[in-house]
Amino acid sequence: VHTPKLGDLEVIPNARIGVDSRGIITYIGTGPLLTTIESEARSYNPAVQNIKIVDMTTSGFKKFFIPGFIDTHIHAPQFPNCGVFGSSTLFSWLTKYTYPVEMALEDSIKAKDVYDRVVQKTLSNGTTFCAYYATIHTTATNILADCAFKHGQRAYIGRSCMDCAKKEYTDHGLRDGIQSTKTVIEHVKSIDPHYTLIKPILSPRNANKCSPDFMLWLAKQSCEQSLPIQAHLSETEDEVEQILKMFPRCKTYSEIYDSHKLLTENTILGHCIFLSNEDLKLINERKSSVSHCPTSNSCLTSGEARLRWIIDSGSKVGLGTDVSGGFSPSMLTTARHAVLVSRHVAMKTKSDHDKISVNESLYLATLGGAKVMGMEQEVGSFAVGKKWECQLIDLDTEGSPVDLFDFLNPSVEGLLSGDPLHCSRFQDLIDKWVFNGDDRNVRKVYVNGRCVLDKD
Ligand code: GUN
Ligand code: FE
Repeated sequence: VHTPKLGDLEVIPNARIGVDSRGIITYIGTGPLLTTIESEARSYNPAVQNIKIVDMTTSGFKKFFIPGFIDTHIHAPQFPNCGVFGSSTLFSWLTKYTYPVEMALEDSIKAKDVYDRVVQKTLSNGTTFCAYYATIHTTATNILADCAFKHGQRAYIGRSCMDCAKKEYTDHGLRDGIQSTKTVIEHVKSIDPHYTLIKPILSPRNANKCSPDFMLWLAKQSCEQSLPIQAHLSETEDEVEQILKMFPRCKTYSEIYDSHKLLTENTILGHCIFLSNEDLKLINERKSSVSHCPTSNSCLTSGEARLRWIIDSGSKVGLGTDVSGGFSPSMLTTARHAVLVSRHVAMKTKSDHDKISVNESLYLATLGGAKVMGMEQEVGSFAVGKKWECQLIDLDTEGSPVDLFDFLNPSVEGLLSGDPLHCSRFQDLIDKWVFNGDDRNVRKVYVNGRCVLDKD
């Protein structure tokens, strides 16, 4: 099951999928199996040897593979604060809850504990790829890289760059910020020289926390070393107002980043709630991406991003949990909230067009996210040449929060024949999963072709 196009859910009943030793999908057998699996595999590649078959033949459609979720915006150090935000809004939340928990990770023992847990928790929820913000600390950020690599999660590792923040929690000047960032890049390179799994991401936290010289230096590194960039953009009205005052020559927040060369094809912009037409035009001209964070935007009462407007403009869009602005590390929960928040927007605009469907939300959580991360050739959907990077969902597993009723079950034959009744029944199962499912339904997780989590 996957979403190869926005809004389309493709189901391939009884598929056979060949994966090579590099974790790359070499063939996808559809329709009835005419011979044995071995001979079918050899019909695609006669030279193939040492075939190992993993039979996932399942009961009805209660089990299926779906691409791993891609979290395009998550703050790993904030994981201990999930669910804790009181009645704060962005600025008060940052000072009261967020900076204190981040500062605590200067202690490497705490960092190891938190990062081990956040990687395991997100993997357990089917997230195979995260764009992580860490803290300003080099040792702790290096530990996050170690944890992701050790548990086999694909990850972008971002040391938060902030050389002009408050004195309790800041890089000690530009030189310190640059040196720390270099140290993290070198560390990531030392464990994964070809960036097969983990890669540094340059992370100027905000335009008001990162000096112009630091922003320019980060942009230069991105260009020279082909590294992605992530930053926050237009999360609250107060924030936009405050930041614009600091840069009187710029008319919009995005223009500030652009004037420091930070808007690139590999830039991920978190939130994007209060965008003007000019902002969106500029973001698209630079081919930068948007990370939509509906859970966080609701928890912190930041606002409702105009998701349909952003999608319709042709932007690359993915979803982000924004832990712990968002209370949940689950991308399934975030996908659910993307659907719900879009309905709140639709209630205001009185336009059904603003509603995001379940299938669209799943697309944003998978292939949309892959595009945001610049990896749509490798992950996000099932296709020959892409990585086998997915989750095995079982709706009928013990303790499953999804109540199933026999009359909803589509038959294999019905689905194979494309009979609309069976297809709509399958859609019902997917809808039930998106609205009621959780990590208990995730049974196995594969990254880079390797099973990195097996709960059975
Ligand atoms: N803006 C600057 N830092 C943060 C953060 O950690 N979370 C969110 N949601 N917004 C931010
Ligand atoms: Fe954030």
